[in-house]
Amino acid sequence: MPNQANLPNNESGSTPELRLGVNIDHVATVRNARGGPHPDPVRAALLAEKAGADGITAHLREDRRHIADRDIERLRRDLTIPLNFEMAATDEMLDIALAQKPHAACIVPEKREERTTEGGLDAASSHNRLAPLVRQLRDAGIRVSLFIEADESQLDAAVLLGAPVVELHTGSYCEAWLCGDMDAFERERARLQTMTDVGVAKGLEVHAGHGLTYDTVQPVAAMLGIRELNIGHFLMGEAMFVGLEQSIAKMRRLMQQARQSASHRAVL
Ligand code: PXP
Repeated sequence: MPNQANLPNNESGSTPELRLGVNIDHVATVRNARGGPHPDPVRAALLAEKAGADGITAHLREDRRHIADRDIERLRRDLTIPLNFEMAATDEMLDIALAQKPHAACIVPEKREERTTEGGLDAASSHNRLAPLVRQLRDAGIRVSLFIEADESQLDAAVLLGAPVVELHTGSYCEAWLCGDMDAFERERARLQTMTDVGVAKGLEVHAGHGLTYDTVQPVAAMLGIRELNIGHFLMGEAMFVGLEQSIAKMRRLMQQARQSASHRAVL
């Protein structure tokens, strides 16, 4: 359980903020299934903003399977909350990021054949490829994060690269829940907790995301070192039944409850 020593500076006694970044990729997945303009991911982003999202995340994939270049341009034009641009470590994506200047860029691994972003970036073995990218993004005033596995060697690599933020991949943790393997779930939860604390101690801002649902969000939200969760697929799926504003509002409520309880336990 987190204690005072694990809290980010100057936050003892208050609940550290936990932001929600809403990933809108899968609105574009549904749109692209028919090739027309509906449903519009930018409309979803604006609705998410109204429902209390702290930021919008969108992944422009190399194959443009969901988000398109024009979506990123429109998001930059229309959003008043921060845009987190997810990108592969390629020259093409770097050029787009530098032209669009989103608030943040999250560098993710990308494989053409994968269904979604499977596994974290191997920052530890890609230093030479990532270093110029991180530097150019930072020089442009874009907050850089690396989407990595919860592993100390990856945290060290992020520090060495000068990336101020890491996003811990919660895929294995969520997968363990889906499989009903509670031992693995607890193991993965504990790993996320430990690596969050280690990351904070190394001076990194720690985020988390991938596969989070109403069932799995609270133990992660209770990790007081984590400052932001990025959630997409589940929120969009749930929105089909209850609407986007409701699905986001419920996720926020669950996050807030877990955060406050953890914060109270930490000061006892
Ligand atoms: N964070 C990152 C870096 C991602 O690549 C994704 C998926 O695009 C997410 C968060 C959101 O994952 P999900 O859509 O499963 O909630």
